[in-house]
Amino acid sequence: MAIRKKVVVFRAIAQDLLARIQQQHDVVFIDPRQGDGYHRFLAAMEDAQGLMGSSLQLGPAQLQHAAQLEVISSMSVGVDNYDLAFLKARQIMLCHTPGVLTETTADAIFGLILCTMRRLPELSQYVRTGSWVRPIGEDLYGWDVHGKTLGILGFGRIGQAVARRAALGFGMPVVFHNTQAVAVTPAMGKVQQLAWEHVLRTADVLVCTLPLTDQTRGLVDAEAFQAMKPGAVFINGSRGAVVVESALLHALNHGSLRAAGLDVFEVEPLPLESALRTHPRVTALPHLGSATHETRRRMAEMATDNLLLALSGQVPLAQCAPPA
Ligand code: 8YV
Repeated sequence: MAIRKKVVVFRAIAQDLLARIQQQHDVVFIDPRQGDGYHRFLAAMEDAQGLMGSSLQLGPAQLQHAAQLEVISSMSVGVDNYDLAFLKARQIMLCHTPGVLTETTADAIFGLILCTMRRLPELSQYVRTGSWVRPIGEDLYGWDVHGKTLGILGFGRIGQAVARRAALGFGMPVVFHNTQAVAVTPAMGKVQQLAWEHVLRTADVLVCTLPLTDQTRGLVDAEAFQAMKPGAVFINGSRGAVVVESALLHALNHGSLRAAGLDVFEVEPLPLESALRTHPRVTALPHLGSATHETRRRMAEMATDNLLLALSGQVPLAQCAPPA
């Protein structure tokens, strides 16, 4: 006889998925971002065995009273918002949703490359505001994307999907840095693994797809921006905290960085006072990488499967390896 457990869901999911969980367990949905939701969320966790949601810092401060917690099923591939060492010490399993969002996130990153290089949001606004009264002049031109060298920092699933779009779709030579060696095949197109400094020096468009870890936090710093090719464009589609934002702004205002396209930021939502929000050569997006109807549905389905498998003592589809 399966034991009914208590599950707290802290990110909205479709009713049919909520019903799937409710068939086996007692479910409480709380949005920690609404009103006193955060305090109700902390209280509800005290006798919960399962959590499901995303985009919330979860460590000792939040989980110290969740004495019965067995599994957290994250609707995300990134897990930098979880204190992995704490979860390991408490023997709380963490599951996530890799794979299902790879192509969608790579589409978004390539869209950000096109938006930034061709100034699409800026020029769309130019039409909307009625400024288009004559053929556009050189002051509104963008820059070619096809044929330019794409540099990728971090060559995991998403980085490789971005490389496919660039090399096979836009005739862009691709150079990448990755801490582990990656087997490059002819099917990938013109793709080459290089040292960090060489990628920085070579790329016309530099894309960051690094996960946020203790090793990558602040890795794209002033030194990195100074090493970049003059007139290069920087794109971040992974995690904001990998980049030193003050160094990025300095590179834009006083260095040779031509423009930046950012879907992620050190603080999200981006604070109104952030200079990145209004900088004329920054295309800023609201962390929309995986945010399509289809992909968020797949992520929620995978997270639901992970949760139900883990709570019934079975192996989940994707468990995060605890820190060494
Ligand atoms: C979303 C993401 O921001 O999967 C990730 O790591 O950053 C995105 O998919 C969010 O985590 C989805 O709930």
